[in-house]
Amino acid sequence: MFEGHDTTASGLTFILYCLTCHPEHQQICREEISQVLGSKNSVEWEDLSKIPYTTMCIKVSLRLYPLVPAVLRNSTKPITFFDGRTIPAGYVYCLHRNATVWENPNVFDPLRFLPENVSSRSPHAFVPFSAGPKNCIGQNFAMNEIKSATVLALQKYEFLEDPKWKPKLVPQVVLRSLNGIHIKIKPVQTSN
Ligand code: HEM
Repeated sequence: MFEGHDTTASGLTFILYCLTCHPEHQQICREEISQVLGSKNSVEWEDLSKIPYTTMCIKVSLRLYPLVPAVLRNSTKPITFFDGRTIPAGYVYCLHRNATVWENPNVFDPLRFLPENVSSRSPHAFVPFSAGPKNCIGQNFAMNEIKSATVLALQKYEFLEDPKWKPKLVPQVVLRSLNGIHIKIKPVQTSN
């Protein structure tokens, strides 16, 4: 339940929350989705590779809200090796918001995930699915699941922020909001 369900359910919640807080990015995603889906109301496998902007937004959401905020092999204190290199103490959440790795770490900027920007960064700067031999075996499945649900949600609904409300993040096994996620939803106006 944790690996296959709770993670993706929380992931979908956070991407919709992020797009709620950033209506300008929500609109770009919706336009991209509308171009790919047209009047279809289902997603096909090949559609999922034609939504690069929406995919980048999902990745920013996974950076700012890593669904598995800590893995069991974290370093609790800095470890310095014989050659002077150091592994700092910390968790995935701290790494994803570390200002030495990410300029303006709290800013929601999908363009950080353009291929040219990804290639100039360490592959270990962004590890929502962990890294190394024990990384997530479900990561492609999970990304496709989140993409499909996001696409269908954005096609039909507009998500609006409640400015008075902010989530209180709690790192349970999966990252959650103690006070829920409040989003106002209204049907997208279509011309036909
Ligand atoms: C957005 C959704 C998901 C996230 C963020 C996520 C994240 C992770 C992370 C961080 C780990 C490593 C945990 C550790 O090292 O202690 C992991 C392991 C694992 N995940 Fe996922 N996961 C997701 C979805 C899924 C799905 C959908 C499946 C299965 C269909 C899955 C199956 C697994 C399995 C079996 C492992 C253990 C792999 C091993 O120990 O060799 N995950 N996941």
